[in-house]
Amino acid sequence: MSDRVKIFVKPNGSVRVTGVADFVDADGNVIETKENFSLCRCGHSKEKPFCDGSHREAGFQAE
Ligand code: FES
Repeated sequence: MSDRVKIFVKPNGSVRVTGVADFVDADGNVIETKENFSLCRCGHSKEKPFCDGSHREAGFQAE
């Protein structure tokens, strides 16, 4: 099994990160994450920077 982190851009949804990754904020602080997590790219999440599924209700279209 590969140790490489994989990043998937979901159609009209989040950016899914799988694997152990250090997620670092703008101040250099490491944000605790699960091994697999999703980042919001629609701007509607109430749990930014993570996706909370709000993109579906908002009807987010990537393009
Ligand atoms: S991408 Fe899922 S809430 Fe923004």
